[in-house]
Amino acid sequence: MAARSKVTVIGAGNVGATTAQRIAEAGLADVVLVDIVDGMPQGKALDLAEAAPVVGHDARVVGTNDYADTAGSDVIVVTSGIPRKPGMSRDDLIATNAGIVRTVVGASAAVSPDAIIIVVTNPLDVMCHVAMTASGFPRERVIGMAGVLDSARFRTFIAQELGVSVEDTHAFVLGGHGDTMVPLPRYSTVAGVPITELMSADRVAALCERTANGGAEVVALLKTGSAFYAPAASTFEMVDAILRDRKRVLPCAVLLEGEFRTRGLFVGVPAVLGRGGMERVFEIELSPEEQAAFDKSAGAVRELVEKL
Ligand code: APR
Repeated sequence: MAARSKVTVIGAGNVGATTAQRIAEAGLADVVLVDIVDGMPQGKALDLAEAAPVVGHDARVVGTNDYADTAGSDVIVVTSGIPRKPGMSRDDLIATNAGIVRTVVGASAAVSPDAIIIVVTNPLDVMCHVAMTASGFPRERVIGMAGVLDSARFRTFIAQELGVSVEDTHAFVLGGHGDTMVPLPRYSTVAGVPITELMSADRVAALCERTANGGAEVVALLKTGSAFYAPAASTFEMVDAILRDRKRVLPCAVLLEGEFRTRGLFVGVPAVLGRGGMERVFEIELSPEEQAAFDKSAGAVRELVEKL
């Protein structure tokens, strides 16, 4: 039998700890939880390990402040950084989080040179650029988590609106992970039927708007931090697709090399995820209006990258 896979989760805060819990409790991989705060990742890891007999899994969970313990990881999930407070945009986090992401990716990539990095820290698309530079990894092994979350939010609102199971809804949200993100109603379906045939144009527009503000809606309610259950579930789905080589088609932030008429930028697009990481950009046909919205969103990412 092959050994269990190893996943390092950097940042043992809300998103990181919840992601670690999901991975361990699914028995998907052993988890190393890393944080800069002394004792905290060790404490959370111990607590998670002590839940294992009750939950019934054999994954090992350890906490550490030392990157030596992360060596040989198959996947590195980066959640370290500061989250948003009410009134802040994701972009307000840029300088602080760029410094943090550069440091932690440099340290972890050095001891896991074959790992696949999943970036969660915001502003997402820009942090992907930072992670790619800091690791020196090829684009196949640096992937941003945003589209799965944004699409999950869209699916939630569609299911609530139509009174149907979330399981039968499908949605694509592309572009940058910010206010200019691009929900695609034409490719968002219930049991295969586009939502544009199931609700009025006004309602479609309202759900798209709520999706684009989905993160801010949670921040405004929590007041002390940002969303973490849905982000952790979305990150888990990507890790699962990679480690089990599932070839899932999931919207992710990917370095585009000409696809969707964009080059040299991390932007959210559908991608095939498997053991090789981002194995293929899954190109879909965009209408002129959709492409224009995508270009605008990519432009917003480019501005931030240049700011950095
Ligand atoms: N090295 C390791 N860990 C760090 C470092 C560092 N240099 N700097 C900060 N951290 C840790 C913090 O100590 C904290 O435990 O990152 C963790 C972040 O956790 P939270 O503050 O709970 O934030 P969270 O809600 O998990 O969000 C993390 O994900 O969704 C994004 O916008 C969000 O960028 C934010 C990130």
